[in-house]
Amino acid sequence: MKKIVVAVDGYSSCGKSTIAKQLAQYAGYTYVDTGAMYRAVALYIYEEWNGLRPTETDLVRFEDLSDEEMTAFLNEHIHISFIQTDNGQHVCLNGEDVESRIRTLETGNLASQVSTIGAVRRFLVAQQQKMGEEKGIVMDGRDIGTVVFPGAELKLFLTASAEVRAQRRYLELREKGGNPVFEDVLRDVEDRDYRDTHRAESPLKQADDAIVIDNTNMTREEQMQKVTELFESIVKGTSKNV
Ligand code: DC
Repeated sequence: MKKIVVAVDGYSSCGKSTIAKQLAQYAGYTYVDTGAMYRAVALYIYEEWNGLRPTETDLVRFEDLSDEEMTAFLNEHIHISFIQTDNGQHVCLNGEDVESRIRTLETGNLASQVSTIGAVRRFLVAQQQKMGEEKGIVMDGRDIGTVVFPGAELKLFLTASAEVRAQRRYLELREKGGNPVFEDVLRDVEDRDYRDTHRAESPLKQADDAIVIDNTNMTREEQMQKVTELFESIVKGTSKNV
């Protein structure tokens, strides 16, 4: 059966990674969480270095470096990879498993900031495109169907109301042992939506040929059924998208 590229885009906390992982497992495809890559870059730049870079004479803010300096810095210092563990896929930064460190509200916010920088996007998009060269991949993010793989055979765009997404995120943070305040989580979801859709570089937007799935009132099972039907119709060549 032919292998395809599946792009899963959408707002934060609307279940992209859950559905992308499930579909990858169903299809026997590789799953790539591009948000984890932005989070790992943010972790390095802002948490390990407090947003500052040493130059020959002083410390400068990462954002004040020129585009070339940023690119050179990223290529030299940041190596991102994924490993499979008993708890699923984990992201590694320079060989260290940083999965638990990147899954915080703070790092999510820093990732949203760092993802507005053109040099960072180009650095990560090039790696993502390489990962999909052989197809057989399900990749989730914000710009997969528009920038990373504009030719993806199946493009999904997930959405749900901000309140429902904040509620899901709130429960997730609590399950991880956190003590979040719902209003903070909601504000955070809304802020990120705004930043993700208004940034100059590759803003989150639906590809013209993406299929929109609003899962506000859908169960995971209903959503998965819809997605597998779409996937099957494309790999078997019965979809008009082919
Ligand atoms: O999906 P996530 O919450 O882990 O993503 C973290 C941030 O990274 C999010 O605010 C937007 C950014 N991001 C992006 O700009 N492009 C992607 N392909 C993936 C994530």
